[in-house]
Amino acid sequence: MKPLHKIIVNNDTSFSPIWIMRQAGRYLPEFRKIRKENPNFINLCLNHDLSSEITLQPIKRFDLDAAIIFSDILMLPFGLGQKVEFEKNFGPKLGELNLTKIEKIDDIDFIEKIQNVYKALKKVSLNPSLKNKNLIGFIGAPWTLLVYMINQNSPKKNLKEDFFKDEALIKRILMIIEKFLKIHIKNQIDNGADVIQIFDSWAGLLEEKDLPKYVYNPTLRLVDYIRSLNVPVICFPREIKNYKEFCDAVKPNAISIDYNVDPKQILQNIKIPIQGGLDPKILLTDKETLKKEASKYLDIFKDHPYIFNLGHGVLPETDPDMFDYLVKTVKNY
Ligand code: CP3
Repeated sequence: MKPLHKIIVNNDTSFSPIWIMRQAGRYLPEFRKIRKENPNFINLCLNHDLSSEITLQPIKRFDLDAAIIFSDILMLPFGLGQKVEFEKNFGPKLGELNLTKIEKIDDIDFIEKIQNVYKALKKVSLNPSLKNKNLIGFIGAPWTLLVYMINQNSPKKNLKEDFFKDEALIKRILMIIEKFLKIHIKNQIDNGADVIQIFDSWAGLLEEKDLPKYVYNPTLRLVDYIRSLNVPVICFPREIKNYKEFCDAVKPNAISIDYNVDPKQILQNIKIPIQGGLDPKILLTDKETLKKEASKYLDIFKDHPYIFNLGHGVLPETDPDMFDYLVKTVKNY
């Protein structure tokens, strides 16, 4: 059984495997080199030779327990024909959302547009270095994708003022997102993904009363779908105020926590396997602090099924040597 499955499926508490969100990314010089030669981020994700190589870069360097496919949650709107660009020091920039056009897209058009993501997954899954490691596929949650598709860029703290003005439109877009997320999940699994993580990066923007409609119910339907394919699913509803309520409503196989969550409190409230938590900024301090802070999480979760990870993605300014030290700290615990 692969390391993450031992924790998520078997509730093993005898060890904590480690992988890190954004482990393939800008903190690695070998990534920056490829990135420099490939200024178009979407095209880079769709170059299966390069995206499979990038996926394996952190696996070659560090003793990680899982690879995560190098792609992006915004491949979904891209596959639906919405323009997606990444501007340096700005983040994603999406084109106008044309519902009439998107409603005409069928499964075959969508798969054809992003099939190189699946080819990259296949390639990585066949690589011998992954023999005893998991291969994580992922999606953005319907709510977070809706935010990007309507807002057309990262909302930072607030949504556009008129975001909710056309409820009927939102409902139609959410149905389309859900349909194509299922297709995207199925194709990732068919090509070798053995765990799925759902990133809901903007779950924290919603008021409590809107969570069932936009977060719990649509995510539950996807979690049920992934379960029906016999693959475990980890949810990361970043900055949601009530993780317990989320877990009760959505019932994922494991829950990933952000760095504002008190680990001791979450341990009391949540029975399912837990992942993550450590503030990525700790990797910018020194080895002593890093060891102390990482050990805090390992101590707290020592009798609970726990996957080590950060509370958000690794920062681009992280020293790979500190990353290595973190992996070794977890492995030698
Ligand atoms: O290593 C991995 O974790 C796998 C690859 C991965 C990327 N994005 C690659 C990427 C994953 C899992 C994601 C998820 C993702 N993408 C999320 C959810 C997680 C989160 O960060 O909250 C979101 C919201 C996106 C959308 C997105 N993509 C943003 C906001 C940005 C710009 C921010 C930034 O870090 O520059 C991206 C670009 C992106 N996706 C990069 C990478 C490695 C940086 C691209 C670059 O090299 O310029």
